[in-house]
Amino acid sequence: MAVSVVVGSQWGDEGKGKVVDLLAPQFDIVARYQGGANAGHTIRWDGQTQVLHLLPSGVFTPGVQCVIGNGVVIEPKALVSEMQKVQELGYDLTGRLLISRNAHCILPYHKAIEEVLSADRIGTTRRGIGPAYTDKVARVGIRAGELVDPDLFGQRLRSEVARQNTVLCGAYGHPGLDAEEILADYVDLGLELAGYVTDTTELLHRALGAGKKILAEGAQGALLDIDFGTYPYVTSSNPTAGGVCTGLGLPPTAINQVIGITKAYCTRVGHGPFPTELTDATGAHLRKVGAEFGATTGRPRRCGWLDLVALKYSCGLNGFTELVVTKLDVLSGLDTVKVCTEYEQGGTTKSHFVNDTRALGMTTPRYEVLEGWTQDISNCTQADELPPAALALIDRISSFTGVRVKTISTGPNRAQTVELSR
Ligand code: IMP
Repeated sequence: MAVSVVVGSQWGDEGKGKVVDLLAPQFDIVARYQGGANAGHTIRWDGQTQVLHLLPSGVFTPGVQCVIGNGVVIEPKALVSEMQKVQELGYDLTGRLLISRNAHCILPYHKAIEEVLSADRIGTTRRGIGPAYTDKVARVGIRAGELVDPDLFGQRLRSEVARQNTVLCGAYGHPGLDAEEILADYVDLGLELAGYVTDTTELLHRALGAGKKILAEGAQGALLDIDFGTYPYVTSSNPTAGGVCTGLGLPPTAINQVIGITKAYCTRVGHGPFPTELTDATGAHLRKVGAEFGATTGRPRRCGWLDLVALKYSCGLNGFTELVVTKLDVLSGLDTVKVCTEYEQGGTTKSHFVNDTRALGMTTPRYEVLEGWTQDISNCTQADELPPAALALIDRISSFTGVRVKTISTGPNRAQTVELSR
């Protein structure tokens, strides 16, 4: 059995794209299991930077098959334009990209609904993610297998637009959407995708049977999980490792490696509790040095110290077999570095995360203060090149969570990576 999983351990934007791209040559298949074009996975090599929203981060590794699983919600327009961009760069997708016929489509009414509904309340990416998953659960969604069949798609879309318009026009005074206008674009998009849409679960089962290695790529992060995140300030899917089983159809017993990605500090985009948030000059410094602006929306990210209490919760949810610490270079030059090891909530001190959004919003973090370092570490590729203070932070992450840190990322390029043998 050979399934490895890459999961964001925080509120997303941990650097999963870089890690998946680095690991991809060791795998036969890279498969996205949840989320949609709300994700922005940045990959940088040889002076090039590419941001992927829907395609798995294995696309730039020739020979690796890429799967978009049933748990992903697909915006056909965004997907086709991303596929074109990647192909123009010289990476052929024919026979390499497989899209689950059971993946649900994000259609124009999903974005319209999100605009009139709750986008501002949560601070969503406004990509129609929540409304598409809502339709999936309400059993009225249109799936990729239907999108690629023009007659069936026409029937389904006309009846869905009529239904969605009753809500949009009736309750929100929206002018309503025109099914024929949508069909004029989307039938062609469906035909462009037709050659890629298939039964990916069967394909993955055959691959497992043939001893192939699969890397499951998560989007967002554990603290944005619909069930285990800071509800309602969460995304609408399960980024946690359990999402691999439901989002790809792989059995839990096939998973033998779960890699948690954590930044050396924390960030969050959108609303919701963030106990270690820094609204002072240090927060602004982390945002500037870490270039903490959303890869999908361009929004400035909220920044704060590393929250080990939340990270340990994430370890419990995902069963991480190892951690990758990213953006360690961003902390260079700070006199001291803090890590949160306890929460003070209503007069009591806790060292474990209680998933209570209200209480988290009224939490005072208690920190351990570690020594900083001045050395620029962005060109370090060996553990013994790193300053002792940086290694002490890594050791503290491991000792607090009980999970070993196997890899450190010291910059966005593939080469800016340190493997730890300890
Ligand atoms: P949605 O996923 O667009 O519905 O947004 C729900 C929440 O998840 C918002 O707070 C978003 O900012 C956040 N979110 C969604 N995708 C990402 C991501 O890839 N990185 C970081 N935050 C995200």
